[in-house]
Amino acid sequence: MKIAVIGLGHVGLPTALGFSELGWEVLGVDDDPHKSRQIAAGRMPFYEPGAEELLRRGLRSGRFRLAPDVAAATAEAEVVFVCVGTPQRDDGSADLSQVEGVARAIARSLNGGKLIVEKSTTPVRTAERIRQTIGRYRNGDHRFEVAVNPEFLREGSAVYDFFHPHRIVLGVESSWGRDLLLQVYRPLLDRLRAETTNTPGAAGSDPVEERVIVTSLQTAELIKHAANAFLATKISFINMVADLCEAAGADVTEVARALGLDPRIGPAFLQAGVGFGGYCLPKDLRALIRIGEELGADMALLRAVDAINRQRVGRLVRRLEQVLWVLRGKTVGILGLAFKPGTDDIREAPSLRVVEHLLQEGVALRLHDPQAVENFRRVVPEDPPRLVYCTSPYEAARGAHALVLLTEWPEYGDLDLASLAAVMEVPCLVDGRNVLDPAAARAAGFEYVGMGRP
Ligand code: UDX
Repeated sequence: MKIAVIGLGHVGLPTALGFSELGWEVLGVDDDPHKSRQIAAGRMPFYEPGAEELLRRGLRSGRFRLAPDVAAATAEAEVVFVCVGTPQRDDGSADLSQVEGVARAIARSLNGGKLIVEKSTTPVRTAERIRQTIGRYRNGDHRFEVAVNPEFLREGSAVYDFFHPHRIVLGVESSWGRDLLLQVYRPLLDRLRAETTNTPGAAGSDPVEERVIVTSLQTAELIKHAANAFLATKISFINMVADLCEAAGADVTEVARALGLDPRIGPAFLQAGVGFGGYCLPKDLRALIRIGEELGADMALLRAVDAINRQRVGRLVRRLEQVLWVLRGKTVGILGLAFKPGTDDIREAPSLRVVEHLLQEGVALRLHDPQAVENFRRVVPEDPPRLVYCTSPYEAARGAHALVLLTEWPEYGDLDLASLAAVMEVPCLVDGRNVLDPAAARAAGFEYVGMGRP
């Protein structure tokens, strides 16, 4: 079976490489010629641990190759995964023009029975629109069916996540679609079974097979949006608690640890701080709010989740102001620009708004990130002495009146805090992710301020 993957971004490329690693012949398409050339030459267009190795292996074995366009890829493949972007429009809804364009291109190149699988995160009922569009534009009456197979990959661990899914959601219209998708995922399920042979489920159950959820198209679409909205809700919830802790003199990290010990709550996504960013959580949350309202549902809870998150940068800047008193004329070192560790992605990163805000306030900035500097520089060019990029955290700290940690890169946890404090004008530290040990920071001479910590 040949698989086409249309759109080679943070979802499409790891997915395409994962399928080729599983043994399928995969044709990738992207409409950005520069990116396509880079991929064809074996270079990842973005930082994703482990992906470049899969890319080189896929290209070498011939199991992964680039197709010139959607028509060529569709003509050859039996299953076509649509992984194009669904950016946010000004009103918060999802811009589906790329999805629609791809649906038309697929329609014109149908040449036999094909399964068109929506993998991009799209509002509920988009799959129906894709079906309608392909039906309208297709040449002849070639058979096709639409399916929804949402992706739950996290940036920075996309390769690991591909091979270790918590669930595989298959939104299908018929047993033909279901069986075809099950066939695509069979090698992955076999791999998972081989890895979990020592941990069988309850008598007679197959814990691997139980991860496969077969639903309708609409249910599959909603599962994805609901999953991201729930994660966002956990983060905004703990950030609200952080504000309460700050006002009451309590410590949110201890509250979160205690909450997380309850298995009904769980410890993940309870890290208070400067809030969630990235290409998915903020955008998907707003798209779900919009589609929910369009469908007449009360989305007040999720509107509050979004509003709390939007206030986080302001809270952090206020914390910094409490420390420095006057911002104008001060120098601040920023540790971390990526929206989270393990990626060079800065889309909707809190760092963008922090930097913008501090520049407006007349603060000179010294920026460091282990991976994201190049991407950041493209949006915010170097402008010494107002704004300089630094090659190490120690350099970012040099002469600064405060350091602000915005991304919890593991290397920031290993810093020699005393050396860091020694090169600063005033050793103040605002920990926007609550990852450093306040006692160790204070012992090294820092004035330490967290988010929601006394
Ligand atoms: C998310 C979903 O996790 C993934 O399943 C989906 O497929 C795509 O969207 P990703 O955007 O890679 O993945 O980032 P994620 O790891 O979810 O983090 C999102 C943001 O939340 C980051 O800015 C992170 O710093 C922030 N975050 C996360 C917190 O502020 N606190 C937490 O406790 C956890």
